[in-house]
Amino acid sequence: MKKTLSVGLAGSILGLGLLAVVQAAETKPEDVASYRQSVYNIIGWNFKPIGAMVKGEVPFDAAAVARHAQYVELMSKAAPEAFAKGTGPSVVKKTEAKEEIWTKPAEFDSKMKDFQQEATKLAEVAKGGDQTAIKAQFGKTAETCKACHKEFRKD
Ligand code: HEC
Repeated sequence: MKKTLSVGLAGSILGLGLLAVVQAAETKPEDVASYRQSVYNIIGWNFKPIGAMVKGEVPFDAAAVARHAQYVELMSKAAPEAFAKGTGPSVVKKTEAKEEIWTKPAEFDSKMKDFQQEATKLAEVAKGGDQTAIKAQFGKTAETCKACHKEFRKD
């Protein structure tokens, strides 16, 4: 009983951390959204070539996969900070983020955690250089991108 309570509490504290309010008054909502888009731009930039390699569109290069996967993992950890409250479409014009990110924080956090978990695994598997394992883990990670975009990003 007690255990469940503390887990729940830790969860909500974590949730708060993920969606922290823009702390410094100088940080403009537009700057946060722009940072957010940069983070995802870097994620996309590094994720795409791994996809091309596992699909056999370009020659497989284990070292390149490992490097790209590390950037994806790192950026997955940077992403939560880029979703500060008050940086959604009601405030920022140039954003594809949906308001639901902030109205359904628990669902959003869960999608974010799934992504972070799979991205971390991808970086681990990539170090091993096993092409079959990398392909499988790439697929799992790609699912987490789609799951979040489907619900929380405008088309
Ligand atoms: C937890 C939610 C979430 C996950 C997981 C996620 N994304 Fe996104 N992504 C978004 C949101 C929200 C935006 C829109 C950001 C904005 O416009 O402010 C976005 C935008 C993007 C963009 C456009 C960036 C730009 O230049 O504006 C790319 C590319 C992208 N995501 C790729 C990916 C890839 C690849 C993955 C998985 C490896 C991924 N995303 C995982 C939520 C997510």
